[in-house]
Order: sequence, then structure tokens, then C-alpha cells
Amino acid sequence: MSEHCASQIDKLIEADRVHRDVYTAPGIFDLEMARIFGRSWIWIGHASQVASIGDFVTTRIGRQPVIMVRHGDGQIKVLINRCRHRGVRLCALDRGNTKQFRCPYHGWTYRTDGTLLTEPLRDVFAKDFDLDEERMGLTKVARVDSYRGFVFANLTPGGADLMPNLGPMKAGIDDICDRAPEGEIAFTGGGFKQQFDANWKFWVENMIDLDHPRFAHVAASSAARGMEPGSDYVTARAANRVLNAFGASSEFWNKTGVWANGDGHGYMGSLAPGAEPDGDIYLRYKAALEEKHGPERAQEILNVSRHNNLLYPNFNFQTSFQHVKIVDPITVDHSEVRIFAFQMKGAPEEMNRDAIVYLNTVQSPASIIQSDDFDIYERQQQGLTAQGSDWVYFARGAEGDVAEDDGGFRAVGTSELPMRKQFQAWRALMTE
Ligand code: FES
Ligand SMILES: [Fe+2]
Repeated sequence: MSEHCASQIDKLIEADRVHRDVYTAPGIFDLEMARIFGRSWIWIGHASQVASIGDFVTTRIGRQPVIMVRHGDGQIKVLINRCRHRGVRLCALDRGNTKQFRCPYHGWTYRTDGTLLTEPLRDVFAKDFDLDEERMGLTKVARVDSYRGFVFANLTPGGADLMPNLGPMKAGIDDICDRAPEGEIAFTGGGFKQQFDANWKFWVENMIDLDHPRFAHVAASSAARGMEPGSDYVTARAANRVLNAFGASSEFWNKTGVWANGDGHGYMGSLAPGAEPDGDIYLRYKAALEEKHGPERAQEILNVSRHNNLLYPNFNFQTSFQHVKIVDPITVDHSEVRIFAFQMKGAPEEMNRDAIVYLNTVQSPASIIQSDDFDIYERQQQGLTAQGSDWVYFARGAEGDVAEDDGGFRAVGTSELPMRKQFQAWRALMTE
């Protein structure tokens, strides 16, 4: 992206529409990697994924491959996953446990704090070549911080700290953790990964787009409507609940409400505000929560009404069906989504099992819901190559935004408020 193009960014964003170049121009994508993913707090993982010394997971910050690892001193390190010799991506596994990372090319080996441990032919390097274990160690990501086990990293040394950036989204993380009777969640398994041929922002917009389910997911929702939980079609209680909701009217979705702020963060209300599921599993769960906190505090925790929480630019987390997901931009028209279920410590085992069945049904590569969304993203990317109409519109509900005390805005569920705020944040980051 040339400086000339950077100065044109402002022209691509208007109050209720954006130019198609924001999804299709490779130069814009490169600038996003530097200015958005290079300067934002990006979710790296959860402390429970690296519970023991030597545990690691690999992930990305934008296009940067990184490793999160628990070092021998108990601290979590976030390192750039790139051998300092000739650039090999050092660790190719999604997760594991190790004492050290050895490069498969010429054997340079690093400790789990990134320092260089050995270089096999150290003696034959030029005498003045610097093989200092710190200076030639793995590059450390500039800033790492965490909140209630959620680890975030930022490639830039300066700028806002994590907590001010989370702002009102902190309450979403509290909601997730507080709902676990023991006050903690744990990521104990792996996750799903799937790629699609479209720009990453289509996925971000879709996280709080409440007017699409009744159209995009009509096949699954109409088949599920009226079916009993436990039927052959849908074996999960949770999946059955959501599939029925997907077929609901715009009045239903409007009632859930949406919230968003100028940092691009947002959330939607619960799919069934105020309604408590009945049945033995839920009653056991509620009893565990009450035992821990007393009935009043337990009810306060259950009254929080949030479904999808979007932490801009690329992280979504959800209490109701116990999972988080993240989109990684790869090229301007290719992206990868990763999805992980978490367990609520102290909750009935059936709830944790339901979360996995829900993800299989709704969010896996073989799902009957997410596949609809991926098809839509790819068709958006294809459609935006068309000549003659350059703008993409987010005008739905534009006159109904209500300012809130927390600096955000609220609107009915089918409003395109979240996308308008995402592009307000996008423009600010891209032009600062
Ligand atoms: S590239 Fe890693 S040791 Fe040579
Ligand atoms: Fe969808």
C-alpha cells in the first residue's frame, strides 16, 4: 500500500456504506495487517491451554505466526514462530508439550523463553558473528497481558493497554467466567479449523448480523422446527434450541438487541432473554452456582443477557454455547477460522458435552449452519468483483442508534449498528 493509497482511505468509508475496495484491494489488506493487526490486542489463547510447564499452542497475530508457551518459571511467553537462522516456521504443531523448540532445517534450538540454546556448528561461524542467546533468540511479541485466563498480545510496544481497550467487553469475559460455578473456564481439547475464499471482515460482520439467520440458515432451521430435542436430526439439546431460533422472525431478533462502540467491539443480547431452560441438567447447574454464591448472586450472574461478544478486530466469544472463535486473515480473499469449546468448571458434565455436540452441528467443517455462512462470504467476495456498483451498505436501522452511558450505542437486533461501528474503528486504525 503506497502512502498515496493510505491517504485515500477516508474516501472509502462513509456513515452507512463502504467502498468494495476495502474487501478486494491487496494494498488495503497489507495496510490492515500493519495498522490493525500490527497494533490491536489479539486473542492468543487461554491459560488453561498451557496449564503445565512446556505446554504450547501455536496461533497467529494477523499474518505473524506465534507460539504461546508456559516457560519453566511458570510464566506464559508469546514468541514469534520463526527460526532466527533462515526463517523456517519453527513449530508446525497446533499444540503440544516440549522442553525446547528445535528448527527442523539446521537444528538451531531455543528454550521455551525464546533464548537460543544451541547452534550445532557454532565454531564455524565468522568470529564476529553475534550468536548471543538473547539477541539471536526468538523475537518476543512486544506486549502480552491477560484477563481471567484470556491471553492477548499486541505487536506494538506503545498504545492503549489491554484493559482500557476491552472497556465494556470486560463484562462479557466476566459473564463467561462467572457462569462457571467454580468461577473459571478451561479449554481442554483441540479445536476446529476451516478456511474460506473471502475477506476476513465478512466473518467479523456476520458475528452480530441478526437479520441473516432466517434467510441464510433457512434449510437447517425449517428442518429443525418442531423437532424434539434428542430426535435423530438433532441430538443436542443446545443445537436444537439454536436451530429453532435461526428460523425466527425479525421481531424475535429485534428483541435480542445489539450494542457496539467506536472501538468496533459489540455484542448481541440473549436468544431467549429472561427465559431459563428447565430440566434436570439446568437445575443441577443452577444449584451448583447457588451453592457457590448464594441465590441472590447466582441470579445476578444468570441475569446477564449476552449471546455473541465480538472483540474487534477478530475474536468472538459466547457463553450460551460455550465456545470462542477467531478469524485469521491470510490474503485479501482467503481466511481461516478456528473454533474452540470450553468447559465451565463445576457445571454438570452434560453441559460440557452439549457444547461439543453443538459445535459439531453448528460450527464445524461438517456443520449445517457455518457452511451456509462460508458460502455467503465467498459469494460476497465473488459479487464484489462486479463492475458498476462500488458500494456496500450498512444503513439498516441507521436512525435508531441510542447512546449509552458506557460510550457505546444500542439498537434493535436487526440494526447494522455493529458494522457501522466496526468501520468507524477500521477507519480510525487505518488512518491514525
Ligand atoms: S533455518 Fe532454522 S536452523 Fe537453519
Ligand atoms: Fe450465520
